[in-house]
Amino acid sequence: MKFFADTAEIAEIRELAATGLLDGVTTNPSLIAKAGRNFIEAVREICELVEGPVSAEVAATDEETMLAEARKLAAIAENVAIKVPLTWAGLKTCRTLSQDGIMVNVTLCFSANQALLAAKAGAAFVSPFVGRMDDVGEDGMALIRDIRTIFDNYPDLGTEVLAASIRHPRHITEAALAGADVATVPPSVLKQIVNHPLTDKGLAQFLADWKKTGQSIL
Ligand code: E4P
Repeated sequence: MKFFADTAEIAEIRELAATGLLDGVTTNPSLIAKAGRNFIEAVREICELVEGPVSAEVAATDEETMLAEARKLAAIAENVAIKVPLTWAGLKTCRTLSQDGIMVNVTLCFSANQALLAAKAGAAFVSPFVGRMDDVGEDGMALIRDIRTIFDNYPDLGTEVLAASIRHPRHITEAALAGADVATVPPSVLKQIVNHPLTDKGLAQFLADWKKTGQSIL
């Protein structure tokens, strides 16, 4: 499963990219507002830091303006993936952009049927929002499992399942078990998953015992 960072904060992206384990980045208008950055400049900087797909979301809701915004965003760098909302206008925009060879991430997906439409429109990614479904008492991970099953029934659909709105480490494990192709994760959660108290305890013990041997490897 690929890991994308769900943020527009350059410092966090730089830190994660340095691990060599970051496969891409997703932004959305809320994350851009939170970062307090100029959208175009932030996307350009992120694309220079990360080789993989960098999602940049259109702000319009009509097809014509979405397409114009998308073309401007796609011109920033080759690894820009245009994010469009899961509406008829978004799907039509997705279809046009995909036919032109531009990656599209169809966002705000909350049902398996919506995901199927995104795939038929040629999306590179569809983003089911796991956490926001959990927030309203639905089972977000069940949606990931359903979409995985449906896409596997139709191998011609080339769309990757991008588990979005990930809130905690268990979501990451469950997304991987459900067969999500990608999880986009807030940096705080991504940094958290390396930790385990038994790793810390075990390492402390090994270091203490190694000291007792009086040896050095180098
Ligand atoms: C990313 O593509 C989504 O916009 C993001 O994961 C949404 O996360 P949230 O529900 O925590 O805002």
